Amino acid sequence: MTPAGGENGHSPELPPGPRRGPDWWLMLRKFLAHGRSIASFSPSSRFLSRSMLRGIDWARAKCVVELGAGTGPVTKELVRAAPPDTKLVIVERDPDFCQLLRTKFPTHDIVEGDACRLDEILAERKIAKADHVISGLPLPSFPAEVRDSIIRMAARVLGPDGEFRQITNMPWVYLKLYRTYFRDVSFRLVPLNLPPGGVYFCRGYEPAAA
Ligand SMILES: C[S@@+](CC[C@H](N)C(=O)[O-])C[C@H]1O[C@@H](n2cnc3c(N)ncnc32)[C@H](O)[C@@H]1O
Repeated sequence: MTPAGGENGHSPELPPGPRRGPDWWLMLRKFLAHGRSIASFSPSSRFLSRSMLRGIDWARAKCVVELGAGTGPVTKELVRAAPPDTKLVIVERDPDFCQLLRTKFPTHDIVEGDACRLDEILAERKIAKADHVISGLPLPSFPAEVRDSIIRMAARVLGPDGEFRQITNMPWVYLKLYRTYFRDVSFRLVPLNLPPGGVYFCRGYEPAAA
């Protein structure tokens, strides 16, 4: 796969800056440029990233999908934790983040694409089902119909036994929101993040409006 971006590594739409500087710098610039579709000014801490993976039964997990990988803090933990026979599909819409992710994880499947197309992305790889979908997407900032469609899509590829995990920088605030989509939702606080964050663990897709 060819990484996106120019020869010098600068994206044409980004102002010049230390392209190889810390991940937070790229994240901050993206946040300032795109606001709601990024919704976070700094990458997740390793504590929050590890919490996203806590309790996954790697002996049974044959496919894990990550949505909205950004600069890759969760991807880093995922790549470390997953055994070689677990297929990882990393989906990120932003070409500059994809370029960075491909540099960091050259042997992994980094898909420059839209989470709304997750079913097609998996079909292209002949993957029928995912065991876990872990999301760094800023779902609450999306228009309701986009959020509905991404969660419906994730639930479809997960099947009835799969688990959807969602990272947040707004602890507890969206518990009610995720309970409108899933029967079983729990939350784990992770104070060691800037700002403090957490993870929603969601099972049993059952949208309230259905
Ligand atoms: C808050 S950042 C999370 C980054 C990283 N997971 C972390 O924890 O630091 C959200 C990411 O979702 C990506 N994103 C937003 N909408 C997307 C979509 N529809 N499909 C795929 N990625 C998307 C953004 O480009 C951004 O990288």
